This record gives sequence, C-alpha cells and structure tokens, in this order.
Amino acid sequence: MIATFELRCSGCATPAQRHDAPCAACGELLEFALRTEACDPGAAREYAAMVAARRANTTSLDRSGIWRWRELLPQIPHDAIVTLAEGNVPLYDVPKIAAREGVAALAFFHLGMNPTGSFKDLGMTVAISAARAEGATRAICASTGNTASSMAAYAARAGMEAYALVPRGKISGAKLAQMRDYGVRVVEVEGSFDDALAALTARAEADAAVVNSINPYRLEGQKCTAFALLEARSWRVPDWVVVPGGNLGNSSAIGKGFREALALGLIDRIPRIAVVQAEGAAPFVQLYRSGRDLVPIVPHTIASAIAVGAPRSWRKARAELDASHGAAVSVTDDEIDAAKKRIGAAGIGCEPASAATLAGIARLRAEGSIAENDDVVAVLTGHVLKDSDASLRVADRSDVGA
Ligand code: F0G
Repeated sequence: MIATFELRCSGCATPAQRHDAPCAACGELLEFALRTEACDPGAAREYAAMVAARRANTTSLDRSGIWRWRELLPQIPHDAIVTLAEGNVPLYDVPKIAAREGVAALAFFHLGMNPTGSFKDLGMTVAISAARAEGATRAICASTGNTASSMAAYAARAGMEAYALVPRGKISGAKLAQMRDYGVRVVEVEGSFDDALAALTARAEADAAVVNSINPYRLEGQKCTAFALLEARSWRVPDWVVVPGGNLGNSSAIGKGFREALALGLIDRIPRIAVVQAEGAAPFVQLYRSGRDLVPIVPHTIASAIAVGAPRSWRKARAELDASHGAAVSVTDDEIDAAKKRIGAAGIGCEPASAATLAGIARLRAEGSIAENDDVVAVLTGHVLKDSDASLRVADRSDVGA
C-alpha cells in the first residue's frame, strides 16, 4: 500500500512549498493531506499484517511504534531519522471504572508510557527527523513542559541545540527538571503558554526548527495514535475516543489518523472524538458549543499542561469533531483531581491533564452524549511522574474520593 501526501493549507487547500510558514493565501496552518484513493480491504489487511510483523524485527525503525507505519508518513531519508523507540504503549482495560461510569467498555490508551513520558514523542520523532534531514542545527518550541522535554531529548539524540520558551512559574517542577536533564536552554516568559508561543513566533530564526504542533510533521507522527490504538484492539473501532485538549494539535492529529484509516480501507467507520478541556481553559468548548469562532481567554487550571487560552489548531480540531460527530466538554479542577485519584487507584496513574478525560467521560455520560452501550477509549497523554506536586496534593485531599 503506497500512500502519497500533499503539503497544503488545512483551510483553503492551496498547495504549499514550505512547511515552516502558514498558508501564503489565507494564513491557516498547513497539513499533509492524503492523496491515495480508497484501496481494497484485502491490501489494507495485508499492510496491517506487515506492520504488525515488523515488531519482531530488531532494526530501530521497526522497533519504533511510529516508523513501523512509515508508508503512511511523509518520506524522510532513513539515515536522518531520530528515534527513541517511541509509540509502543499499552492499552489498559478498566472494567470496574467502566461499570461505575455506566458504559459497556472503557480502556485507557496510555501515551504517557512513551520514552519521555508523554504523547509528544510520537510527533517529535517525525519533526526532529525532518528538521535534521533539512540540515537544521537548532530546535525551538513554546511549551507547558511536555513538548519541551520531548524536543530536548530528540534534539540531544540528533546532536541539535534546543531552546524552550516556557511560562514562568506555570509548569511542573518535574518537567522543568526533565528537560534540563536533556540539556535544553530554557527561556522563561511572563504570562501563559500563549504568551510563550507569541514570543516564539516573534523571534523564530531561519536555522531553528519550530517543533510546536503548528509544524505539520509533528501531527503526522501523532496521527499514528489512531493506527496503534486500532491495532491494539484488533481493528475493532471504538464508539468514542476521548482526548484532553490544549493547543488542539493532538485531537486534530488523532482525528486525521482515523479518517485516513477509513480512506485506506483499514476500518469501515470512524469513532466519535471527544475533546475535554479544563473549565478555566476551555476556549474550544465555548466555541464548539456556541458555533462561534475562537475568543481567546487567559487560562487558569491545575492541569498546567492544558492551560492554553488561544489554541492554534482550533479550526482543525473543529473539523475533526464535525467529521466524527464528536463532542467538546469542560470539567472543573476538582473533577480532574477526583478522576486522577481514581486512575491512580486503578494502578495506572497519569498527570492531571490526562485525568481530565475520565472526568469528561462522566460529564458526557451524564448529558447523554455517551450512551450506556458505548465502547470508550480515553487517551492518557502524560505519565504520573510528570507532575509529582499534583500527585502529593491530590493524595492529601480527602474530599475527593477514589
Ligand atoms: N495532555 C498533556 C499531558 C499535554 O502536555 C498537552 C499539551 C495536552 C494534553 C494537550 O495537547 O496541545 O495537542 O491539545 N501540552 C503542550 C506542551 C501544550 O507544551 O507540552 P494539545
């Protein structure tokens, strides 16, 4: 199965020459659009079997849960690829939590079990590899901590310098420590993630690759979440896939992955995508539910990873929710803490932003969007050790029960 992709605008579909600038015609973000027309299900099944068989090989590309899908990714010379064996993550069934939420099945797809402890590695391996192939010597990003940690690790592997712009005092100490371990240069910016991203855009230099999710290579890696999840379920499509939303690159990427799996004949329907945001950082929920465009806000939430007030990929995420008949919902910080306690009590654990998914499922179930007989997957995006202060705080709370 050979898939071809065209770099073009995600808004007006104008073909683009460069991947590192917004659309010259309308200013929207770019994407790699799949060109392949539907292939027959036999060929798709054969391809899936070949990808599964690659697991048994010992080459670094086949050991990567991302590069195993390399025919479905932008083509990058193999000697430029930087991998840390990302993408081989567990799917945990949680029948007791499913019963309590009143759904037929619930599982956590734990992307926090990646090399640097978050889903960012899935995209970073592609973004840093593409940057290396183009001869970049430096990588830069704005971050609430996970993007920067992931960038720092992959840049170090590639022998590139890395610079992270982070909101001062608003990211977890564990993430700051982790990124510094990999040797990143940290620039603290006053304000929120949005201010850090604005500062980055203002100072971006030609030889530094910007590896935030505005970089279309990042999302190509992250779309493999959809393939890996389907593979882990023997290609049984769930009814809902629930994802925490910050800058909204990940929900956009996952939606794209499912649509491509459908177009390629790997599946015959797509799951509904639900985006969950923290109540104090929910500009996407507001716009999706009101039908209006983005109104930026100043974000406040204990889930520091998703404290984003002006998500750059909101149009892409809206398109994915529309395409999948999805939903957007916000949850309070107390609900996030309670959900985090329950995920910990199941022996799994995650950082607060990821726990928002379980809190969101409860909300969506209560409002009837998720039904009693639905089969639901929550995407946990960050490892429990990513925010140890939050774990200590939540463990000491007796008012939120497990
Ligand atoms: N979960 C975690 C643990 C995150 O770190 C992020 C984003 C998200 C969810 C939301 O993903 O932005 O694609 O909608 N973290 C970014 C960062 C902002 O800088 O690490 P999104």
